[in-house]
Amino acid sequence: MVRSLSDGDVERALSLREVIEAVERAFALYSTGRALMPQRVHVPVTEHEGTILLMPCYVPEMGVFSVKYVTVYPGNPSRGLPTIFASLLISDPATGEPKVLADARAATGMRTGAATAVSIKHLSRTTEGALGVVGCGYQARWQLKAALEVMRVEKLYLHDIVRSKAVELGEEASRRYGLDVEVADEVRLLASKSDVIITATTSSKPFLKAEWVRPGTHISAIGAFTPQMAELEAELVASSKVVVDSREAAKAEAGDIIQAVQRGLMRWEDVHAELGEVVAGIRPGRESDEEVTVFKSVGLAVQDAAVAALLLRRMGGS
Ligand SMILES: NC(=O)c1ccc[n+]([C@@H]2O[C@H](COP(=O)([O-])OP(=O)(O)OC[C@H]3O[C@@H](n4cnc5c(N)ncnc54)[C@H](O)[C@@H]3O)[C@@H](O)[C@H]2O)c1
Repeated sequence: MVRSLSDGDVERALSLREVIEAVERAFALYSTGRALMPQRVHVPVTEHEGTILLMPCYVPEMGVFSVKYVTVYPGNPSRGLPTIFASLLISDPATGEPKVLADARAATGMRTGAATAVSIKHLSRTTEGALGVVGCGYQARWQLKAALEVMRVEKLYLHDIVRSKAVELGEEASRRYGLDVEVADEVRLLASKSDVIITATTSSKPFLKAEWVRPGTHISAIGAFTPQMAELEAELVASSKVVVDSREAAKAEAGDIIQAVQRGLMRWEDVHAELGEVVAGIRPGRESDEEVTVFKSVGLAVQDAAVAALLLRRMGGS
């Protein structure tokens, strides 16, 4: 029988620390050819400005097959609904039998936060200092929580195009984590003071400029997931050391890089590595204190499979 889990069940079943470890391993398995992950299917729902994504993945060494169904509707918050809905169907790969059907909004937040945490661990110049977060919606909460697992945040800068969202997250962050928080009215201010910058917006236009970013900064850009979307200006991408979650997925979806390549500012060969190659020790990570590192994540089914494997084990399956 299929066990059904709510977001609350998923949050109670898993710790963010174990999700970070599982996602780190999943990136390495993917980048060393040990995960079967076809390109995800995008179904644009143009009339309603939404997208449906289908994300299957089989990871033999994790003993899991999963498929995530996720919808992204950037207009939903104005209807009082979340931008993202997601469900994760987890099967026993030995028989194909579906074992767990989980709400996957929280799981998506956790595994995306985990990707940023892994990037900070492997690419950041420092794991203590100032953190800047642009975009203060649902993902930002998990991004912050996961960053705090690997970084001592001395000061938190927040910016959102809707100022009240930044204020709300700031109040939460100081109440929950005792952080020293400043709401930045301009991205420029946040960028010029942060050691690590996370962008977690639904923006389709780039808002982070190269000249605002200090040497040695690490940026984790998780928002854009179509060729038309971008959070980072092309000049910033082209002048940074760029690490992606998947070269193949980035070529299809990472607008930040696609637009820099289209403008002739860089070539795909200039993408330094996949994060999994850095984790596996195949490629170096940061090589100097001055370089700006950019981790561009579009989100991979193998991250969901990593969470699925943990859930399957927790539920007593395979
Ligand atoms: N890389 C991944 O694996 C991954 C996973 C999940 C979600 N995402 C993406 O992350 C993005 C955010 O998702 P969410 O669930 O947090 O959405 P959300 O709607 O809850 O939050 C997005 C926030 O960004 C703000 N924003 C939009 N444009 C901005 C701009 N130009 N400057 C500053 N703030 C801006 C909005 O006001 C909002 O507060 C989406 O595009 C989603 O597809 C990526």
